[in-house]
Amino acid sequence: MSHAQFLRQRPRRVRRTPALRGLVRECALTSEDLIWPIFLRDGENVTEPVTSMPGVNRLSLDNAVQAARQARDLGIPALCLFPYTDPALKTDNCEEAWNPDNLSNRAIRAIKAEVPEVAVMTDVALDPYNSNGHDGIVRDGVIVNDESVAALVRMALAQAEAGADILGPSDMMDGRIGAMRDALEAAGHTDVTIMSYAAKYASGFYGPFRDAVGASGALKGDKKTYQMDPANSDEAMRMIARDLDEGADMVMVKPGMAYLDICRRVQDMFEVPTFAYQVSGEYAMIEAAAANGWIDGEIVMMESLLAFKRAGCNGILTYFAPRAAALLNAR
Ligand code: PBG
Repeated sequence: MSHAQFLRQRPRRVRRTPALRGLVRECALTSEDLIWPIFLRDGENVTEPVTSMPGVNRLSLDNAVQAARQARDLGIPALCLFPYTDPALKTDNCEEAWNPDNLSNRAIRAIKAEVPEVAVMTDVALDPYNSNGHDGIVRDGVIVNDESVAALVRMALAQAEAGADILGPSDMMDGRIGAMRDALEAAGHTDVTIMSYAAKYASGFYGPFRDAVGASGALKGDKKTYQMDPANSDEAMRMIARDLDEGADMVMVKPGMAYLDICRRVQDMFEVPTFAYQVSGEYAMIEAAAANGWIDGEIVMMESLLAFKRAGCNGILTYFAPRAAALLNAR
């Protein structure tokens, strides 16, 4: 008795060998898709581990320049800088944010002097410099919008002056992209690009990052009056539309893995350069499970990054950047 079936469709046919799977593959990840976020701190030859992010370190400027060389050699096009700020420099008015010689601005200059081919991206938000850990200025317990925007514009100008290629406003104040674009134009920084953290959610996934930059202890309350409600998707489309209208060159969705539906909608609706930030908590979860032997860290790292490409992203900010690039280049 024969069990032969005459199936016209056998989708497994094209999964049979690596060659056939390669032929029908719909998207690909390359080292050019990656932006590598690094943490800075003062000192010389410092590589200080971030406890909640195994494998990630705070780097002094000399080692940050070394990281830029590594990025160049791995084909990673951009670094994104996050300073750990001495608590003594944090104030209610956040003046350190626009100090031309703050840690972040010194790092921009050092990297652009030594490794000019690597793009340098910054974070524009006041939290590293704010005594209360918020991204905007706090007056009488309220995060005030317009005064914060004025401060953020000063911060953005100082970063542009230092030589940043991409400004990344992550503050979620209203009107900041337009205000920054106008100020950049007026100051002659017409080629400095803006990647707006347009759809940034009030997320529990940022926990390890706040450790890394020394903001966890400082933060009073939460960020729900400016970052978005994780329940919302239509609102994200309005935020993207607004930031593009105000002059953003590229947009970002953040966090990443829990918001892939947002990435897909943005790419489908706007067809603009779209990025996702695979944030600190996502990195920490994968690393923790891998360290326990519960998942294969390398496979999950690559699968998670590929998922962003499938969801329509042009690129990904990820702490895995150097490891992923090394693996991709070895293939
Ligand atoms: C601050 C900022 C945060 C991150 C990037 N910029 C934290 C926050 O909004 O509280 C998070 C990045 C990460 O978790 O990896 N404006």
